[in-house]
Amino acid sequence: MLSPFQRVHSMRSLLLVVLLPGLSFAQPKVDPAKPLTRIVFGSCNDQDKPCPAWDAIAKQKPDLLLFLGDTIYADLDKKQKVTAELIKSKYDQLDTLPAFKILKSTVPMLGVYDDHDFGKNDGDVKWPLKDDAQKILLDFYNVPLDSPRRSRKGVYHAEVYGPPGSRIQVIMLDGRYHLSGAIKGKYDPRVRTTPYIPNSAEDATFLGNDQWAWLEVQLKQPAEIRLLCSGIQVLSEDHPFEKWMNMPNERAKLYKLLRDTKAEGVIVLSGDRHLAELSMSLDALTYPLYDMTSSGFNQATPSWRPPERNRHRVAAVPFGNNYGLVEIDWSRGTSPLVSLQLHDDDGRTLVRHDIRAGMLKPSEQAAGGDKFGDKAAKLPEGVISATEALTKVGDEVTMQFAVKASNKTKDGKRLFLNSDADFKGEQNFTVVLTGAILTEGKWKDADPATFKGKTVRVKGKVSKFQEKPQIVVNDEKTLEVVE
Ligand SMILES: [Fe+2]
Repeated sequence: MLSPFQRVHSMRSLLLVVLLPGLSFAQPKVDPAKPLTRIVFGSCNDQDKPCPAWDAIAKQKPDLLLFLGDTIYADLDKKQKVTAELIKSKYDQLDTLPAFKILKSTVPMLGVYDDHDFGKNDGDVKWPLKDDAQKILLDFYNVPLDSPRRSRKGVYHAEVYGPPGSRIQVIMLDGRYHLSGAIKGKYDPRVRTTPYIPNSAEDATFLGNDQWAWLEVQLKQPAEIRLLCSGIQVLSEDHPFEKWMNMPNERAKLYKLLRDTKAEGVIVLSGDRHLAELSMSLDALTYPLYDMTSSGFNQATPSWRPPERNRHRVAAVPFGNNYGLVEIDWSRGTSPLVSLQLHDDDGRTLVRHDIRAGMLKPSEQAAGGDKFGDKAAKLPEGVISATEALTKVGDEVTMQFAVKASNKTKDGKRLFLNSDADFKGEQNFTVVLTGAILTEGKWKDADPATFKGKTVRVKGKVSKFQEKPQIVVNDEKTLEVVE
């Protein structure tokens, strides 16, 4: 049964489709003189399923609509070989949907692919159709033939909208075309998947050199608010799926670049996860860094599921189709009100978190230094970080880290040194002092306070205890406090 609105809406849709059969619409453009106030974003749409979100988004009348990837699914039918023609046919199918057609003809859009519209689940630099996927995506968004987006390797792109004082920069990253070095461990029945494991190898990359250099130039462009769009999550680091933390050095590099360029107003938007959530970290930049995830337009987990662990979570919507909305009230003087919202596919607001743009300014005082682990990059030759040690089970290593948490068993027989404040976290590495080191020599009276906040260098073999990497130390010669 259709509501009166739906009836009118579908008649409008029908009229447009009848009047304009098969016509590829010129993409509407953003008015450069007008500050943007409503930007909708989202990800994950199966073109074969209904998508009520298109109608809900049209009702929002956004100034701009951002597609963060998996806009179509080209690889769902495992029996069908993915070809360039197949990828294009899925986009064509989306283009025939009346509700989507209306959106496309009335709302300016920017889009990047994630993996399924790239043509391969968790696809990377090795995907042979990557250039085809790029061309098909640019054709879908009617990107002009002379656009620089047609000549670079990857679909990354940035625009600054609005007049000085009310500028929004939208940066769309391509995390697929150059992706190299994502590695998986063994199947883990507890999470019912084969988890990614951190890779700190120097050549492991999300963006590739050219895109990194391009991003630095973009971050130096003046803008009051920047929406940094990534197909996969940047902040969330505790789940086993694709995320920036699978390459800790790349994420650290991103944070450092954001700090070094003194980019103000950065808010990350992400997708991919079939749920919606808002995350925030106080430890990435000199101001709070938010990551708002919306997924999917019609591909979210339909029923409630226990929210997976996310140490940075502010709010979660772990079920139901959704889209994100960033609403900006520029009438608040020098500190506009930025409303970060997650809506269901009927348009209801499920999460609303309002901040002032003035909060998102770099602070000179807190820039650089130990707080951001910049020293970690300067480890001596042959010494690895705790993050890297996580990947070295079975190897003899020399590793170094600042002790964020420490505790001792009641019987005093084991003293634990943890690299992360949360010793249960996925990124924590534990050094266990036990045996002679606690009964004789210089550490015999050691307790948690002896090491807390100190940087220790440890030599030993990385073993596993209850699936967590650790080094057991009983010889005082293999433990050194270096600062
Ligand atoms: Fe994805």
